[in-house]
Amino acid sequence: MYKDVDFFEYSKEILNQIERGAFLTVKHGEKVNTMTIGWGSLGSIWHKPIFIVLVRGSRYTYELIENAEDFTVSFPLKGQLEEELVACGTKSGRDIDKLKEFNIKIREGVLVKTPIIDDCDLHLECRIIYKQFMDENKLSDEWIKQTFYNKGDYHYVYYGEILKSYMKE
Ligand SMILES: Cc1cc2nc3c(=O)[nH]c(=O)nc-3n(C[C@H](O)[C@H](O)[C@H](O)COP(=O)(O)O)c2cc1C
Repeated sequence: MYKDVDFFEYSKEILNQIERGAFLTVKHGEKVNTMTIGWGSLGSIWHKPIFIVLVRGSRYTYELIENAEDFTVSFPLKGQLEEELVACGTKSGRDIDKLKEFNIKIREGVLVKTPIIDDCDLHLECRIIYKQFMDENKLSDEWIKQTFYNKGDYHYVYYGEILKSYMKE
């Protein structure tokens, strides 16, 4: 039902989908939450495959990921879960249990504590190995500042080592 894939082979699908939306899921203790992300970066750092996510400090996800060891990113590549992407990108896990409310099925992670969003096609299991807070003084692009940070709420950046990538068959 699931097969391991080489994420480099699927880099085109991953990068095409990310701006359309993917699910960033995090578990801390017994709390599980997922939110839509539209930005992310796939690359090779420290001789390791890395996926980078950006989470604003105002997100409930931030509260969880700051204390978590890992996260998963699940990509719906066939246009499914469109409504769920909108819902998880507009509602906060602080107010509702999004998984329950929107009937989103999860499945246990294989190598990480965080589950995956089961109805997606491609999944990355990532271990957080580095994190940093964006320093506004080091952001040189005025357009980015005005467009994305006119109210502050800068992103925390999490570097996840991709431990496992797999597809639903
Ligand atoms: C298409 C789309 C992409 C988004 N990308 C991001 C992102 O990369 N980082 C981020 O912090 N918020 C992003 N958001 C906003 C969060 O998904 C949204 O604020 C969500 O309600 C946060 O949920 P939480 O409070 O449960 O963490 C995006 C929203 C949408 C609709």
